[in-house]
Amino acid sequence: MASSLLSRQLTRSLRPNLHLAAPGCRYVSKTAAKPVSEFEYDAPSMKTPVPGPKSKELTRQLGEIQNVGAVNFFCNYEESRGNYLVDADGNRMLDLYTQISSVPIGYNHPALMKAVTNPIHLSAFVNRPALGILPPENFPEKLVESLLSIAPTGMTRVQTMACGSCSNENAYKAMFIWYKNKERGTNSPSADEVSSCMINQGPGCPDLSILSFMGGFHGRTLGCLATTHSKVIHKLDIPSFDWPIASFPRLQYPLEEFVRENAQEEARCLEEVEDLIVKWRQKGKPVAGIVVEPIQAEGGDNHASPDFFIKLRNIARKHGCAFHVDEVQTGGGTTGKFWAHEHWGTDDPADIVSFSKKMLTGGYYHKDELVPDKGYRIFNTWMGDPSKNVFLTEVLNVIRRENLLDEVTRSGKVLLQGLYELQAQYPHILSRARGQGTFCAVDARDDVTRDNLLLKTRDKGVLLGGCGDRSIRFRPALVFKEYHAHQFLNIFNDVLSEYK
Ligand SMILES: Cc1ncc(COP(=O)(O)O)c(C=O)c1O
Repeated sequence: MASSLLSRQLTRSLRPNLHLAAPGCRYVSKTAAKPVSEFEYDAPSMKTPVPGPKSKELTRQLGEIQNVGAVNFFCNYEESRGNYLVDADGNRMLDLYTQISSVPIGYNHPALMKAVTNPIHLSAFVNRPALGILPPENFPEKLVESLLSIAPTGMTRVQTMACGSCSNENAYKAMFIWYKNKERGTNSPSADEVSSCMINQGPGCPDLSILSFMGGFHGRTLGCLATTHSKVIHKLDIPSFDWPIASFPRLQYPLEEFVRENAQEEARCLEEVEDLIVKWRQKGKPVAGIVVEPIQAEGGDNHASPDFFIKLRNIARKHGCAFHVDEVQTGGGTTGKFWAHEHWGTDDPADIVSFSKKMLTGGYYHKDELVPDKGYRIFNTWMGDPSKNVFLTEVLNVIRRENLLDEVTRSGKVLLQGLYELQAQYPHILSRARGQGTFCAVDARDDVTRDNLLLKTRDKGVLLGGCGDRSIRFRPALVFKEYHAHQFLNIFNDVLSEYK
């Protein structure tokens, strides 16, 4: 099957690319040599507006079964390849959103297709064990070859989970357990603690807190949601905790013109963090941990300097709080380093680093001190999925073999430079271009313009995502090359040139 897919693909990739020859293309991007890719299409191809008639009919059908308020269109994953997503109406789009940033090496990558058909892996796909009690005999070896081979500095332990939220949720629990054991000086609870916890009362259910940042996103489960502050839609009507929320720096761009202002802004936020830690301790709700994204993603691609994060980490240490870096969206290579926190250049970046999305499995790395003292304290039925480790091993092989992190750095430069040029050309529409690797964003003048640009660009064959109030975010796969960046920039320029 895989070979017939590949040959069909090869035939398609030889078709001429009509779109790029279209008139009205004023952004003159220097054409990088197109990589010879055996398994990818060479351009978008649009047959209908998106969603097309078939997607609309399927949305109607699904609407009778589920809420479809967030469904954009239906996809044909069999026909999708590399950086191109094909929809149910046969439209082929260059995908710079990649399933909310969760596709590491493109659609139907041959290395992954091969892994599924390898008999050696069959048992991992067919049997999904309860990993916390009955792990497969090769589990330690598989963790070493996949997750531990890319462990952040200072961390030799990893706990797998299913998704981003359940990784963070359990990481928070690990921080609370660690904090409480540290505070009582033993991991043996008192009789009072044991009896009160069963009725949601103290001292067994202590009033501890986690400090998070305005604009942060850490998931939608109840604990995570208490630290999520990106959009009202996530939070409305859901009870929450009284936990401290600090301001996240709002940097001004271009960075080189606002060095002093941005340094002051970061200092202001750090001061607020310390004030909140003190205030919550006085309130009787001590901060057990601080959680932060290296780049606030859902909240609008808000960046801060390495200096900010290093100082924040020091504040956590000084006040005895665990420091949790949420790399669910930034991890896996998209910033040009495997972990975004590597850009901070410090040996002791965190106590906990959580991940999911491009890593295919969820989970969190942690320092030795955060190992729970008993079984079942951090636990659920599956605790991950060994078949995802099989895929992750293949993904890591491809990343290493094809030097994809260098590729991300190169294509990210082209993408960001192109965004700088477009914002200079259309200053009434675009501003604040920013990014690290291909993890880039640009702001539209308002939310209506942003939403319109997303739809117009999609109809021309490029899939993008929004974030924050009016930002457009770019989240291509790691196989996104300079050639794809030029392809996007040309199409985006077409859209902008038609925009009033
Ligand atoms: C930084 C961050 N943390 C946590 C999550 C939650 O992950 P999931 O949607 O897999 O629960 C997300 C999802 O977008 C995220 O971006």
